[in-house]
Amino acid sequence: MADDQVLTDMLTMLDRSPEVLALRVCVIELLIERQRYADGLAHCGVALGHDPGNAQVLGLMTRCTTALSGASPAQETAAAAPSGFDWAAAEHEVGDIIEPAFVHGVPTDFVTEDDAATVERPALRLADVGGMAEVKRQLDLTLLGPLRNPELAKAFGTSARGGLLLYGPPGCGKTFIASAVAGELGANFYPIEIADILDIYIGASERNLHSVFELARRNAPCVLFLDEVDALGHKRSQMHASSGMRTVVNQLLTEMDSATHSNDGVFVLGATNHPWDVDVALRRPGRFDRMIFVGLPDLAARKSILHYHLRERPVAGIDLNALATHTDGLSGADLAHVCTSATQLAMADSMRTGEVRPIGMPDVQAALAQIRASTGAWFESARNVVEFANGDGSYDELARYLKGRR
Ligand SMILES: Nc1ncnc2c1ncn2[C@@H]1O[C@H](COP(=O)(O)OP(=O)(O)OP(=O)(O)O)[C@@H](O)[C@H]1O
Ligand SMILES: [Mg+2]
Repeated sequence: MADDQVLTDMLTMLDRSPEVLALRVCVIELLIERQRYADGLAHCGVALGHDPGNAQVLGLMTRCTTALSGASPAQETAAAAPSGFDWAAAEHEVGDIIEPAFVHGVPTDFVTEDDAATVERPALRLADVGGMAEVKRQLDLTLLGPLRNPELAKAFGTSARGGLLLYGPPGCGKTFIASAVAGELGANFYPIEIADILDIYIGASERNLHSVFELARRNAPCVLFLDEVDALGHKRSQMHASSGMRTVVNQLLTEMDSATHSNDGVFVLGATNHPWDVDVALRRPGRFDRMIFVGLPDLAARKSILHYHLRERPVAGIDLNALATHTDGLSGADLAHVCTSATQLAMADSMRTGEVRPIGMPDVQAALAQIRASTGAWFESARNVVEFANGDGSYDELARYLKGRR
């Protein structure tokens, strides 16, 4: 059945049963998939009318509003000047455009006076992260252990200072794990995408970065999560030699040094899919000097990911163990996609017959037959890095992992 026929049929069903929330949620998801955010938003409004505060709908609504605000150039360029600092020295040289790629995605509203809007208090714990025993062990050793036992750490001459960089293929739980670490520490969680703080104006990226760290300090203890750290190194290579990226990296180094040396309860966690693109200065001791590899979800992780994505959907006869066993090689994002496709198959069938048919193993198997692991290209680059650019042994852990997967 054509994609849009599915949507049309679902809308017809929704017309007949407007009170069925699960149906409306599916419609909203389909609308988002088709980038029809305004329509999605309208349905979110109706759904919240029926069930105010529904977390899933609120999440979908955020996706629609974010996409809509990102789509409007007028809003994108309306930069609100961060307040609270004396950055008079930082020139605002309009017209000095460093690199067109920077113009993309330059929201400035993260620099808000309303901390509550940006800082979260995650309920997630490491126990919610399925499997991934090695990642948990390393987190315990390098970060959680020393923080729980500061005296012992001191006696052994170690500390939790410095930054920790999570790296690995896309969609495999880096962000999820970082949030669980914050939950584990009982700390606030402040996630930032590096690309979002980069600004085309001289001095503005540095100022954004400074305000991010200030906000983290105000909310200590706080896990400041810097996602896509490679954006700093990566973009640099595409920029004019005279551009200001160097100063942005320097600003980050300064902020990290003061955040981690003045024991102010800010823990910097970074994440990247491409650690080999991360500026080398950021990998020196005291900065992101420890790297933890987050690989493809293992059996237990796949089971918990599948469970998570099917938990609020009508299912019958789903054998999670069997599915987890047969999905080795798929990322968390791939598994989420499989669950959505299986749901659509069961729904299409329900529409044909007019009766709700729960999602069963055949739907998931059909969805699995359609999917290819999305991380192939990543593993190709990773193999090259291990083979040609692992002179200092930075990627030994990755090398062992790749060897084990051959
Ligand atoms: N070990 C796990 N246990 C339970 N759920 C997981 C696990 N790993 C990943 N997930 C699920 O997979 C989703 C994708 O993970 P996440 O967004 O953290 O990946 P990522 O590595 O940050 O991806 P990207 O590189 O695209 O930013 C999460 O929202 C979570 O639901
Ligand atoms: Mg992520």
